[in-house]
Amino acid sequence: MSHHIVEFQDVHFHYPDGTAALNGLSLRITHGESVGIVGANGSGKSTLLMHTNGFLLPQSGSITIGDQKLDKKTRQEVRKKVGLIFQNPDDQLFMPTVFDDVAFGPLNLGLSPDRVRECVHEALETVGCLGLSEKPPHHLSGGQKSAVAIASVIAMQPDILVMDEPASHLDPKSRRALINLLMHFHHTKIIASHDLDLILDVCKRCVIIKEGRVIADGPSEEMLSNRRLLEENNLELPLSLQKRDFSPGGDMDEITKLHHLLGHWAEHNSEHAKTYRDWAKKAESLGRKDLAELLLRIAEETVAMDRLFQDAMGLCR
Ligand SMILES: Nc1ncnc2c1ncn2[C@@H]1O[C@H](COP(=O)(O)OP(=O)(O)OP(=O)(O)O)[C@@H](O)[C@H]1O
Ligand SMILES: [Mg+2]
Repeated sequence: MSHHIVEFQDVHFHYPDGTAALNGLSLRITHGESVGIVGANGSGKSTLLMHTNGFLLPQSGSITIGDQKLDKKTRQEVRKKVGLIFQNPDDQLFMPTVFDDVAFGPLNLGLSPDRVRECVHEALETVGCLGLSEKPPHHLSGGQKSAVAIASVIAMQPDILVMDEPASHLDPKSRRALINLLMHFHHTKIIASHDLDLILDVCKRCVIIKEGRVIADGPSEEMLSNRRLLEENNLELPLSLQKRDFSPGGDMDEITKLHHLLGHWAEHNSEHAKTYRDWAKKAESLGRKDLAELLLRIAEETVAMDRLFQDAMGLCR
């Protein structure tokens, strides 16, 4: 698994008309994190996301993806790792047919025609649009365009998936399918959305931005249950938390909060256990049986601990 860290350091960007959209934005996202970007209209979310693959480049400050500093020279390379889905699917789809649009990325990666066909088939199937492959994208409905734009990016199997308002045109069933898809995408995800329920479901971490700067950053359960913080940023509690908000004037009840926190704390347990086992094998092959045995024990304890977390989450229901 690759280890692509996304790091923004004091990034400034203003549009040609002088609008300052990013004003010293700093953010570090490590491999495998799922990060929601939220904020009022015009706070800079789309501008921020368009910087992740070099579609826009900072006027000052720096952006690093993995070990590459993002600039004019490296952005082609960076785009192989970072799949960006634009807020408006019309900005993403420009080929004569849906098939061509989804095939565009894999072809550019230099895959064989057979492999390209497989990738396109798989990606369109994942978003439920296999039947649309011969249609011109401009004849699709808004939701279908969004789904195809998502397919065009996942067909490239990016290490870092960046989505700008991915669910805004989707019907409830397609939105749920998208949430499932995102939950099963285990690499880095960065998602900007006003759909705070989607962020709560999919993203463990949430970053609030305002006037092109990060103003709060932490576990989604904490950020998105903080009514005051949300209101200060033209946002409101996710619907799922509004329903659970039983106490008059209070935020999410403590046990619900604990349930979310336990999920957050336990998120990487099974992944870590697997890593310890992999390293145990390596240590064994290097003749370090003592270390290998200890690592295997750590893996077992981690699995046992994960079961305790699941039990605790069960008790919170
Ligand atoms: N092409 C452009 N030219 C000039 N100003 C722009 C352009 N695109 C965006 N802006 C301005 O930059 C600021 C940030 O816009 P951006 O689209 O990043 O916000 P956003 O947080 O994505 O908003 P939304 O929630 O509405 O999608 C806004 O003030 C906006 O008016
Ligand atoms: Mg936007």
